[in-house]
Amino acid sequence: MGNQLTGIAPSQILPVEQYLTDLPDLEFDNSLGSTRFFKVAKAKSKEGNVVVKVFVIHDPSLPLSSYKTRLEEICVNLKGTSNCIPFQKSVQQEKAALLYRQYVKDSLYDRISTRPFLNTVEKKWIACQLLCALNQCHKLKVCHGDIKSENVMITGWNWLLLTDFASFKPTYLPDDNPSDFSYFFDTSRRRTCYIAPERFVDSSSRNVEVTGQGQNLDLTATGEVKTGDLTPAMDIFSAGCVITELFTEGSPPFDLSQLLSYRNREYSPWKILEKIEDTNVRVAGRAKAFLAANLQGSGSRPSPAVKHQHGNSHKYETAQHSIFQCKLRRCQDNPPQDFQLGTPPYSQIHNIRSVWNL
Ligand SMILES: Nc1ncnc2c1ncn2[C@@H]1O[C@H](COP(=O)(O)OP(=O)(O)OP(=O)(O)O)[C@@H](O)[C@H]1O
Ligand SMILES: [Mg+2]
Repeated sequence: MGNQLTGIAPSQILPVEQYLTDLPDLEFDNSLGSTRFFKVAKAKSKEGNVVVKVFVIHDPSLPLSSYKTRLEEICVNLKGTSNCIPFQKSVQQEKAALLYRQYVKDSLYDRISTRPFLNTVEKKWIACQLLCALNQCHKLKVCHGDIKSENVMITGWNWLLLTDFASFKPTYLPDDNPSDFSYFFDTSRRRTCYIAPERFVDSSSRNVEVTGQGQNLDLTATGEVKTGDLTPAMDIFSAGCVITELFTEGSPPFDLSQLLSYRNREYSPWKILEKIEDTNVRVAGRAKAFLAANLQGSGSRPSPAVKHQHGNSHKYETAQHSIFQCKLRRCQDNPPQDFQLGTPPYSQIHNIRSVWNL
């Protein structure tokens, strides 16, 4: 399937509510979006509002039951985490597969541009919770795979919930064909790219199995691009992009072509990173960029030109430790025991800031 999936032209396009008619427990409210990959609806259930993502089955030979099993595993694993909401239910019908998750008022993408604008303390509180969310899921051996500001939900009290865990999206993408990226990752059509550079592979990597663990299931598993598991480092890169967007009032560091240039060491997002006023946050962003520059290829070091642009080699060595990784480790050493959804966060902010120096 794979590239066939991204190339499929649906024979019949029905509005999203048509796929909810067989579900007596749901009352359709409104459509939240429609792409070739998913149609998304807000619906009412007796437990409150839910988001239903509808995958229309054009190819009945797709092994949907294995995707369902993996989603259920993730749901069980993440039960009890305070900053992650996986899909809570999946339903397979003849014509469509449906995923349910809790409806949350705003995504971070919406919240960044909504009045009253977030102040610095609120931004730090959100960044801190995003790192906590990563810590929570990575400790349980679950990687997200598609962290972007649309998948970071923010409640009215600025609680953060990481959502839309993407176990069914490909880990690796071809660097010479944007169709898989557009189909799976650019559902908002903003062209913004949060995907870590090491997830783009050149054609010489085709037909290579990286880990063989099969944890991340892949709808493009045609053997055309290498397959393998997501790594925490891939999520950390994406989280760094989201944090940059948060602290620059909505300027993401990369679009797809910039990310690919960055991967080839021909582009640097420094102008955007320089807009971040807080030094601690800016340094963390730099570390992410340094780390990524080191990750791509076969772990080779940045070219002298990149080193020159980014500072002296001592700075480079220090940055390799990745400040985000350090902060995640500190999350593990100092877990915020009193994270409880529904209670005002502000009383806890001071403590958390002093522990993590964020
Ligand atoms: N809880 C929500 N509140 C408001 N709007 C939402 C909510 N959840 C989703 N949406 C809207 O529905 C659209 C589609 O949601 P969806 O999660 O499919 O998009 P995405 O996050 O861009 O893609 P993906 O989750 O596949 O990465 C979003 O772009 C957003 O505009
Ligand atoms: Mg989403």
